[in-house]
Amino acid sequence: MLHPKPILLLGKDGQLGRALSMSLSPAAPLIAWGRGETDGKDGSLEAKLSLFGANGLSAVVNAAAFTDVEGAEDREDEAMASNKTLPGALAKFCSEKGIFLIHYSTDYVHDGFKEGPYLETDEPNPLNVYGKSKLLGDREITDLSASSGATLDYLIFRTSRVYSVTGRCFPNAVLKKAFREKSLEMDATMVGAPTSAEWLAQVTAFVARDLIRGAEVPKGLYHLTAAGETTYLNLARFVTERARAAGLKTELEPWAITARDPAIPGGKAVRPLNSKLSTRKFSADFKIAPPHWSHHVSLFVENHAALAAAFGH
Ligand SMILES: NC(=O)c1ccc[n+]([C@@H]2O[C@H](COP(=O)([O-])OP(=O)(O)OC[C@H]3O[C@@H](n4cnc5c(N)ncnc54)[C@H](OP(=O)(O)O)[C@@H]3O)[C@@H](O)[C@H]2O)c1
Repeated sequence: MLHPKPILLLGKDGQLGRALSMSLSPAAPLIAWGRGETDGKDGSLEAKLSLFGANGLSAVVNAAAFTDVEGAEDREDEAMASNKTLPGALAKFCSEKGIFLIHYSTDYVHDGFKEGPYLETDEPNPLNVYGKSKLLGDREITDLSASSGATLDYLIFRTSRVYSVTGRCFPNAVLKKAFREKSLEMDATMVGAPTSAEWLAQVTAFVARDLIRGAEVPKGLYHLTAAGETTYLNLARFVTERARAAGLKTELEPWAITARDPAIPGGKAVRPLNSKLSTRKFSADFKIAPPHWSHHVSLFVENHAALAAAFGH
């Protein structure tokens, strides 16, 4: 298409939002909104959305979310506003205007008591406020047609342990500590797949390009994570080992990272032990095989090393 309609991106300043800004820009003109555009200070979200006509956008991509899992325990209203009310308003708008909605969800909708990887059909049972708020947001989207007879074309990508070089994320926290500390204790009980924000953004751009050229795209709820699984302990060791191999001058040796006593509470929010999400449905319908988590984590460390070399750290 010569002049594709714009894509509206929400959450442009988050780690996924920044990656989406890069990946979606070549596909279509991008209107990227951060918190300032949706906080209602200069007009309600609904009023701003109403400026787009029917079919006036190629897609709405919502990467905005309240992701502070500990903070959500004390700030439930804020978590609900971002994770339930915002996607609810977007779902209503997209349904009324015939616009495709792409949204992201989390492994934390599950309690983690299942033995194997979760399927999209497994009944969620969140253990903490963040997980609860995200599940209610998903339901604002999935239940729209059931509750009001409205139609909505949507994709929800449920993902886990998102990270990026510039993000507030576990691998960055490990690297930061690796420069200062000689030993570290990490949880060795919770299992999941660290997933690159850049890869999630590439998959989303792939979908957006199909939408723009009028191709059929799969719809509904999909798990979208890297392949394989690991614990935070193993991930921390992998990051430090790769960092040393890439020439970063860290203090911390991988073997000096040890398992934290699981009896010591990690925080207020209870977290699922099993965060594994089966991506079989995604692979079958999108014909994309997710790369093993270690692939993008290695690239993440190499990017850090390249930045350090460029800026003389
Ligand atoms: N991070 C993870 O480990 C993880 C794991 C599984 C699933 N996910 C999901 O993946 C998606 C992307 O997460 P992420 O890692 O990119 O999160 P992130 O880095 O925390 O980014 C979220 C962004 O959304 C913004 N935001 C929050 N509420 C908003 C609102 N009401 N209006 C506009 N912007 C708002 C935040 O602004 P402020 O900084 O001002 O709050 C932040 O810039 C989310 O749906 C998240 O639930 C993330």
